Amino acid sequence: MSQTKLTAHVKAGGCASKLSPKILDRVLARLPRMADPKVLVGYETADDAGVYVLAPGSALVQTVDFFTPVVDDPYTFGAIAAANALSDVYAMGGRPLTALSILVYPAAGDLDDLEQIVTGGADKIHEAGCVILGGHSVADPEIKFGYAVTGLVDPDRVTTNAGARPGDVLLLTKRIGTGVVSTALKRGIADAAHVEAAAKSMLTLNRAAAEAMEGFAVHAATDVTGFGLLGHSREMAMASQVTIEIDSGLVQFLDGALEYAHAGAIPGGTNNNRDFVGSCVEGASHLDDLLYDPQTSGGLLIALPEGEALKYQSRFPAAFRIGRVTERGAKPIRVL
Ligand code: CO
Ligand code: CO
Repeated sequence: MSQTKLTAHVKAGGCASKLSPKILDRVLARLPRMADPKVLVGYETADDAGVYVLAPGSALVQTVDFFTPVVDDPYTFGAIAAANALSDVYAMGGRPLTALSILVYPAAGDLDDLEQIVTGGADKIHEAGCVILGGHSVADPEIKFGYAVTGLVDPDRVTTNAGARPGDVLLLTKRIGTGVVSTALKRGIADAAHVEAAAKSMLTLNRAAAEAMEGFAVHAATDVTGFGLLGHSREMAMASQVTIEIDSGLVQFLDGALEYAHAGAIPGGTNNNRDFVGSCVEGASHLDDLLYDPQTSGGLLIALPEGEALKYQSRFPAAFRIGRVTERGAKPIRVL
């Protein structure tokens, strides 16, 4: 059993440990653009994963994600890191095939904890029908863990963030609030039942939510992770050249999330997200701290026509409506 509290020694937990989107955006904008026609989706549109065409009907989908502990139980942390890394493949409509692990661990760290982290990750990767081919490790005082995942996707059925159309309904497949709950845990003020429910949500693969999209006219999809609901909505709105209208009263939150946000358990990533996305947002809500909350292993944000949305919800009942897509207005995002 673990002696240490994994989340106690990290500056920010999970996807909240991401580099600020403002910094990333500035640096990536200076990288030369690639002109290879086999690159179907590159980094230019800030999509979930890259897509590279292999042959007609077949493309590789590749992504990498690793981060600091979001929960104290090492096995659960490993499994969440894996579910999160696989998520970008699902968000693109792909099927994960292989994974390489990325491990950063203290040289004198607890070996039982390490074994639990790696086992939790491997079990989740296997649950996805994916295999681990290898990995790489670095000794460092702050724990980080995750995977680079490669999958296959039909190039004609890639769900990017670029196809949302005016009139579409927006659905979200997991509740919001993993950032505040894990910050509350780090501060020792979280209720065990709330932490357990948040962990259960983060452990859930987006596979079923992605498979439920099959056969529907899904115009755009992405997963909600470190940049928060508004950050990932911004990416979809910009790539699709539309305005995304989010009705904050419809957004569902994890149990305890509102309470912890009011208590000030706000991860540092929230302010980075607000800094970056705020100027793209018209309107405000008293729930803003949660709308900018960095999610770890969050759900899918899906844009599809009204009638299809209802059918999707009957196939995948955990999905709830959070807003709609309109013609591009004054700003890419409108919060009601
Ligand atoms: Co993503
Ligand atoms: Co990612």
